[in-house]
Amino acid sequence: MATDRTPSSVDEVSQGLREVGYLPGEATALVSFLATKLGKPVLVEGPAGVGKTELAKALARLLERRLVRLQCYEGLDEAKSLYEWNYRKQLLRIQAETDGTGWQDVQEDIFGEEFLLPRPLMTAIASKEPVVLLIDEIDKTDQEFEAMLLELLSDFQISIPELGVIGARTQPVVLLTSNNTRELTEALKRRCLYLWLDYPELEHELSIVRLHTPDLDERVARKLVEIVHRIRELDLKKPPSIAESIDWARTLLLLGAGDIDSGMFAQTMSVILKHRTDLDTVAARVGVMLDPAADASAA
Ligand SMILES: Nc1ncnc2c1ncn2[C@@H]1O[C@H](COP(=O)(O)OP(=O)(O)OP(=O)(O)O)[C@@H](O)[C@H]1O
Ligand SMILES: [Mg+2]
Repeated sequence: MATDRTPSSVDEVSQGLREVGYLPGEATALVSFLATKLGKPVLVEGPAGVGKTELAKALARLLERRLVRLQCYEGLDEAKSLYEWNYRKQLLRIQAETDGTGWQDVQEDIFGEEFLLPRPLMTAIASKEPVVLLIDEIDKTDQEFEAMLLELLSDFQISIPELGVIGARTQPVVLLTSNNTRELTEALKRRCLYLWLDYPELEHELSIVRLHTPDLDERVARKLVEIVHRIRELDLKKPPSIAESIDWARTLLLLGAGDIDSGMFAQTMSVILKHRTDLDTVAARVGVMLDPAADASAA
């Protein structure tokens, strides 16, 4: 048996997440703590690139558990998420048995566990050591899938017609993430703890950027985060997220930038903006703001 790594306080979770490279806000630390204590799944919602997926990975590192990930997409079904019968193996078994044994024996055999192909959800509850289960981007699936998931998340068991009910060997810590592209059902929400992750406060984001690029000059890092925060106030198709701030910081570090002046900004802004119209909007509003004096003398 693995040693019990369940933290005993919110502070311990907060500290522990930092140690594994994730800087949690207060709500994040609290909800993560409750998830490990109450055994309830956590639904993490928020815009793209704010650390939803990374939270699950960090929790797995903190709890020293394996991360089992189910990446959701449109049309995801039970065969790809729960289990599938291994048809090839079943077929081989049947062929190897052409004469002699009766069909009854073969049938009992080929619908045994040995012929099952476990998919992430089943892997997670059948695991001997408890895992962290990440159901990523649940909003990409449909409501039927959600309904199937409900049964699993409330009872931690899977019913297989040919085998019966398979109960959980261990209970996973479950995180579901959503980008909010559709409203999830109330039934699902009711079974989950809820965490809304948003773009962080300036100082918090600065700490995250510095954690990822400790070699970037602190003044440059601060200016970068200030600019990103101003850009988020504009009406954009896709505001830059933490992921873009980190990418930008890495870019500036690689370029050896000692400052972010309008020239450096113009050169690198495509790292944080991914739409033509956003580039135009930002160039007009932010480029000028950076160092008007230099711009004036260049003109
Ligand atoms: N609190 C944090 N501490 C440390 N790193 C963070 C934090 N939040 C976000 N990051 C970093 O930001 C990047 C984006 O995070 P992540 O991929 O988890 O975003 P996401 O919310 O899952 O986005 P999407 O909705 O696009 O999948 C990652 O590199 C992650 O390490
Ligand atoms: Mg993600």
